[in-house]
Amino acid sequence: MIDQTGLYQLQDLEPTAAEFATAVSAGLSATPRTLPCKFFYDAAGSVLFDRICDLPEYYLTRTECRILARRAGEIAALLAPYGSLVEFGAGSASKVGLVLSKIQRPLVYVPVDISRSHLLAGAAILARSFPRLRIAPICADYTQPFELPEIAAGMAGGAAGFFPGSTIGNFAPDEATAFLARARQILGAGALMIVGADLQKDQATLHAAYNDAAGVTAAFNLNLLRRINRELGGNFDLSGFEHAARWNPGAGRVEMHLVSLRRQSVRIGEERFDFAAGETIHTENSHKYTVEGFGAMARAAGFEPVECWTDEAGLFSVHAIRAR
Ligand code: AVI
Repeated sequence: MIDQTGLYQLQDLEPTAAEFATAVSAGLSATPRTLPCKFFYDAAGSVLFDRICDLPEYYLTRTECRILARRAGEIAALLAPYGSLVEFGAGSASKVGLVLSKIQRPLVYVPVDISRSHLLAGAAILARSFPRLRIAPICADYTQPFELPEIAAGMAGGAAGFFPGSTIGNFAPDEATAFLARARQILGAGALMIVGADLQKDQATLHAAYNDAAGVTAAFNLNLLRRINRELGGNFDLSGFEHAARWNPGAGRVEMHLVSLRRQSVRIGEERFDFAAGETIHTENSHKYTVEGFGAMARAAGFEPVECWTDEAGLFSVHAIRAR
């Protein structure tokens, strides 16, 4: 069914408040304490993330967009046999337009995102820019299995996947491999995937990207505590926590933490959590790859590397991989 904005009916599998509560309780009871980064993206968090993407220090988005714009023709040619394109974690769907602008034939686009407001806003913008595109959005945690909508599954040529932004880096390497293997199952044998992966580089560049001068990344990180207060009846005092992003050389990743600035107790519903001064809640990992390392991971997940494009400075990589 198509609504008035030209979108096929939304498939709504947004995580429930109960799932959020269970994940928060488990993460804050663990040692060391953690919170899953997928819960950053409520409406406010999604807006803050869009602002991060425009920061001068956050080179990832503009570098990837430049690669996609330069290689859009080649990417469109690789996508030519496929009848649908599934974007995992589509958010505001701002990058896929670079590729869609080179595709003139009928295509079903399936944006999948955990934030319903962001997903629908992005899909509506794309519908206006690409009136011939058939859009079938799915609000879901794309790390969990989901089924392609009938309109996409029925397209000749099968489905291809798009996973830009180096969001793959937010998974631990074993989770990233499992994610790719699951995407392969959803899309089917022979599917092509276009995946953006941030590359390893000097620490100063990475430090600046995750500790921006304007404090937007800090606000993004702290917004998770605000969300817990609002949705789960928490009483976090946000001034009692500070954002910290640190490079972990052994694991090859930037880690984001929320540091407790003093000894304090926090209530969430019926539960109480006691924090020592300096204790942290680990909220996100952002793994940085080498081209070879990414290729090995893709192979382990059942894909063959087809192409890899990088920028001149070697900051970022975009990979085309095909499911065996
Ligand atoms: C979505 N993801 C790829 C971003 C990253 O760079 O890991 C999330 C982010 N965290 C802090 N800044 C941006």
